[in-house]
Amino acid sequence: MEITDFIEKKKKISVTGLGYVGLPLALALAKKVSVIGFDTDRAHIEALRKGTDASGELPAEAFENTDIVYTDHASDLAEASFHIVAVPTPIDAFNNPDMEPLLAATRTIGAVLKKGDYVVYESTVYPGATEDECVPLLEKISGLRCGKDFKVGYSPERINPGDRKHTLANTRKIVSGCDAEALQRIGEVYALVVDAGLHYAPCIKVAESAKIIENIQRDVNIALMNELSIILGRMGINTYDVLAAAETKWNFLPFKPGLVGGHCIGVDPYYLVYKARELKYHPHVINAGRFVNDSMGGYVGKRIIKRLISMGRTILNGRILVLGITFKENVADIRNSKVADIINELKDYGMQVDVVDPRADAAAVKRMYGFDLCRQPQEKAYEAVVAAVSHQEYQNLSEADLLRWLRDENGLVDDVKGIFRGKVSKLEYWSL
Ligand SMILES: NC(=O)c1ccc[n+]([C@@H]2O[C@H](COP(=O)([O-])OP(=O)(O)OC[C@H]3O[C@@H](n4cnc5c(N)ncnc54)[C@H](O)[C@@H]3O)[C@@H](O)[C@H]2O)c1
Repeated sequence: MEITDFIEKKKKISVTGLGYVGLPLALALAKKVSVIGFDTDRAHIEALRKGTDASGELPAEAFENTDIVYTDHASDLAEASFHIVAVPTPIDAFNNPDMEPLLAATRTIGAVLKKGDYVVYESTVYPGATEDECVPLLEKISGLRCGKDFKVGYSPERINPGDRKHTLANTRKIVSGCDAEALQRIGEVYALVVDAGLHYAPCIKVAESAKIIENIQRDVNIALMNELSIILGRMGINTYDVLAAAETKWNFLPFKPGLVGGHCIGVDPYYLVYKARELKYHPHVINAGRFVNDSMGGYVGKRIIKRLISMGRTILNGRILVLGITFKENVADIRNSKVADIINELKDYGMQVDVVDPRADAAAVKRMYGFDLCRQPQEKAYEAVVAAVSHQEYQNLSEADLLRWLRDENGLVDDVKGIFRGKVSKLEYWSL
């Protein structure tokens, strides 16, 4: 495999799974080489053909001057010689890895694999998944031998949805390969689109481990902040005031408390937990972090109820407004949103919950969580306003805006991310 074959468009690169990770990568590559973008979601492929990106993450320029064919026909992958896999790696109802999308994509590629081809995985997995799960499947289905007939690699993605500052091009990328030649060739492909440079990992398992520990480190640190927030809250001390003071020390890490949802930080740690358990080690710290973070939605819901009771407010059939349903700020993605846990907790106590979100798709919310989004909050209707997601749209709200929605001046503002800190003086105020 020569990189010039791709640059001169004698050979093609395929990207399987055109989601948050696969699509920007496919488009960036398609500005340099011929790309086949494959996804099993036909509606998504049709939208992409019209230049529409449902995630809203990509600017129009990303689609301009690209040499890409979008397809939901697996057989089209046969035209490519370098295959990149970026399909989801979710967990099941028991928090165990659900490898089926990754294995399905592997079977698809195995069926078209030729001598001399490369397969590089980007999906987040536990260490060993590429070589122990995917390679045997590729070999079985293709009848080819890894290392001799085809090569594999792993290159984790680090993009952060909603983040316009850290991009594929300006973030250093880890690459790894099954041997020295694979490492070099895979590096040459990624160097086409990553300006910040590459980190050449010594083997695939190191690259897999690096990705997963990045997310575990974040999860555990946020869990610590959440736990501190619970303790400080019992003493009536505001966590954000404490953090503002502590952060003046040079080596204090600037993590904040909050809801950990989505399909990365709240999911990936379970992949390593699974692997560790297979190795007869029960991770304490990682599991503790998961437990704390997974409990935060319920905790916030209960805190609101207790506070409303102490304020003499109506709980049964009382109305409450929730601002934001996405899994984090400034994105449209609602998957694994822990705001849903807050809403369910409030409903369990008999409250009527109105949810608004300018970024979320109402039909998707209905499908995933079973309730309708409200178009607008009602005036003078609510016992409390819960600012659950710190979207840009909510940052500039004033106390007067909140007062307009609350039933009266004895209402509660529950500010999960602390965006109204210092702005609320008349109303009852609480933040994590
Ligand atoms: N989103 C992030 O910020 C992020 C960052 C780093 C790593 N990751 C990891 O990257 C991987 C992909 O995540 P994502 O957020 O892009 O997922 P996503 O859900 O946004 O997109 C995945 C796409 O793959 C398609 N797909 C599913 N099964 C398929 C199959 N068998 N063949 C072809 N297409 C298939 C889906 O239709 C979907 O369009 C995951 O392992 C994730 O953990 C995600």
